[in-house]
Amino acid sequence: MNVQKFQQLTVSILNKQNIKPLTLKNIIRNASTAVKQKLEEEVKNNKKPKTGILMMNMGGPTNTDQVGEYLLRIMTDRDMIQLPIQSKLGPWIAQRRTPDVKKKYEEIGGGSPILKWTNLQGELMCKQLDKISPQTAPHKYYVAFRYADPLTDVALQKIAEDGVKHTVIFSQYPQYSCATSGSSFNAIYNYYKTKGLPENMKLSIIDRWPTHPLLAKTFAERIKEELKHFPEQIRSQVTILFSAHSIPLKALNRGDPYPSEVAATVHLVMQELKYCNPYHLVWQSKVGPLPWLGPFTDDALKGYVKQGKKYFILVPIAFVNEHIETLHEMDIEYCEDLAKELGIEKIRRAAAPNDHPIFIDALTDIVSNHLRSNEPITPKFMTRCPHCVNKNCELSKQWYSQHCKF
Ligand code: FES
Repeated sequence: MNVQKFQQLTVSILNKQNIKPLTLKNIIRNASTAVKQKLEEEVKNNKKPKTGILMMNMGGPTNTDQVGEYLLRIMTDRDMIQLPIQSKLGPWIAQRRTPDVKKKYEEIGGGSPILKWTNLQGELMCKQLDKISPQTAPHKYYVAFRYADPLTDVALQKIAEDGVKHTVIFSQYPQYSCATSGSSFNAIYNYYKTKGLPENMKLSIIDRWPTHPLLAKTFAERIKEELKHFPEQIRSQVTILFSAHSIPLKALNRGDPYPSEVAATVHLVMQELKYCNPYHLVWQSKVGPLPWLGPFTDDALKGYVKQGKKYFILVPIAFVNEHIETLHEMDIEYCEDLAKELGIEKIRRAAAPNDHPIFIDALTDIVSNHLRSNEPITPKFMTRCPHCVNKNCELSKQWYSQHCKF
């Protein structure tokens, strides 16, 4: 029923009930505004999304019951980690690590907030995209996690059901690593290889954005927020430690681009801050006995304390959301426990980008520029690591080059 018909019907009903004209007029005015809003809302909700933004990330368990399955998915993913007899060793390691990891999630409130932040970022980004890019609207985001709900397959199925006309795979890792971004791209390829791309759907890729100026600005703002907590007379002595998830040296020597892209972000952030403080790039979260890229964050703190430094800010430079590496490893293990052990006078941790307005502008700008560009896929994405031996990388990149188009 449209607004006019509703008005006529309301008038006739109220006339029959002998309601005074003045009251009648008000009732109609209020009722028709409410109905109009409702209709507009319904039209908006029923509108098929023209552009789908697949927000691809690692994900995290939202409660401790999901920890075992989450670890199992990681440990059996050969793109993420390569173990001997992985089908046996992977589940065994996952099972062994589950109680410890569960305890850590309990200590940060019972689960990872990554889904909450991704949903919020997606909502705010799409609202802005609808305004600044009406020709590609309506935009709808889909969260596609690699190891936790909502899983990548589920998101891709939803995109097909919604009849999206153009899907943009938007990596939520600003810096590209074959173990993280690469694994998700391979998973998407594996899904479409079996199910096929939805008919008439265009596909394109945003695979990395380590040097986007608004990303650098967001981190710079986060650091400024923390610097204010140090008295003015000691502020210039604060060492800024940019901390990113480390990778095995084997991956680095294979040619994984991640370390150099993380370093590029660090330099842009410091440029934004006019190199106001001493800084260093360090690496965290090493697992297993094999050599990984260092210096490690905890060792760097120990080294700098020995050199007489007393004030620090830790910056999670490769994470766009809070999750266990920021809330547990950085906040509890380094800023509380280790800082106490080392006698650090003051240490603070910069928040992840989360819902910072500049960061939402960054996401919006990256997608809208991509939609305006004529580049559905970049030459860099098409280039494998010089020593890549992963057949999945070869096949998936070939497939993307044939299927990504505007
Ligand atoms: Fe880097 Fe395959 S390991 S492209």
